[in-house]
Amino acid sequence: MMIPLVDLAAQHREIAGEVDEGFARVTARAAFILGDEVGDFEGEFAEFVGVKHCLGVANGTDALELILRATGIGAGDEVIVPANTFVATALAVARAGATPVFVDCDPLHHLIDVAALPRGARTKAILAVHLYGQMAPMEALAAAAPGVMLLEDAAQSHGATRFGRAAGTVGLATGTSFYPGKNLGAYGDGGAVLTESDEVAEKVRALRNYGSTTKYHHPVLGMNSRLDALQAVVLRAKLKRLAVWNEARRAAARRYDDLLAGLAGVGLPRTAPGNEHVWHLYTVRVPRRDQVMSRLLAAGIGAGVHYPIPLHLQGAFAHLRHAHGDFPVSERAAAEILSLPLFPHITPEQQARVAGELRKAVAGVA
Ligand SMILES: Cc1ncc(COP(=O)(O)O)c(C=O)c1O
Repeated sequence: MMIPLVDLAAQHREIAGEVDEGFARVTARAAFILGDEVGDFEGEFAEFVGVKHCLGVANGTDALELILRATGIGAGDEVIVPANTFVATALAVARAGATPVFVDCDPLHHLIDVAALPRGARTKAILAVHLYGQMAPMEALAAAAPGVMLLEDAAQSHGATRFGRAAGTVGLATGTSFYPGKNLGAYGDGGAVLTESDEVAEKVRALRNYGSTTKYHHPVLGMNSRLDALQAVVLRAKLKRLAVWNEARRAAARRYDDLLAGLAGVGLPRTAPGNEHVWHLYTVRVPRRDQVMSRLLAAGIGAGVHYPIPLHLQGAFAHLRHAHGDFPVSERAAAEILSLPLFPHITPEQQARVAGELRKAVAGVA
């Protein structure tokens, strides 16, 4: 039996009854976009995070674009983003009309390296990414770049905290994703903007809805980026279980730590001091990663790579004229990182099999 990287069917089995009821409620009301169901989810997620405003949007990429636009970032501005993240972080910056400025990651946690931060006169913001489920060093970023706006990409960190502060409560505004495989995932695309600022919230409320808060009045150029009611049903059902599921992810991560301890050639993931990790991904490092991964896949283990090409080497950003060697830590990580199956319902037996196959694969390519 294949062990998938993420088992969404197991999550569905737990919430199926609630989802069916919720879908029936939505179809009876026939209010499919925004509306009460989305409003209820927004309130519940804001409370879970501990932030004043949550605005549901169509996906995480839009959420990031919206926070940039709502905080006044646009043409001529530079926004610092890590080179080691999913492409959407930098796409959002480009779509807002600004220029992404890449920064290398630290070799232990693969988070943005504060010591490597560039500072230019046009640097308006840092879009910090809470990668794999643990938060970026927000306090160190703030100290290193006074006067530069801090924004958060919390797509991979629902429920994570750092020194007691939750992801989505530290920066001026945060974009997050509810892509199905996230810790809190919808049954399709979804995302949200989180902010304490009334002003940013009001701007996003208009921007997500064709630039309008009064029907057929469009004082600003907006977009169509709204969460729909069926997704809100799923998200409300999953949100009730998120804390328990995150705890199950932590237990599974500890189990991998034990199973893989001392395995020569395998670097285990580390949690940075102060971080409460929510283990969106359990990412190890192995030399000859591609060969190891092929062996795992052949043995029925759904391993993945997050991410194989650092952003400065993506064709989409060729105009920024980066070359191999510009961000060596991210480049080396990209060649060695390997994510193992991890999800709330993974069993100790499944994890033992993953660990056993990894042991064999590493020995086989040595
Ligand atoms: C770090 C990060 N940022 C942004 C996104 C974009 O979210 P979406 O796929 O919902 O647009 C994702 C996930 O897909 C992500 O992992």
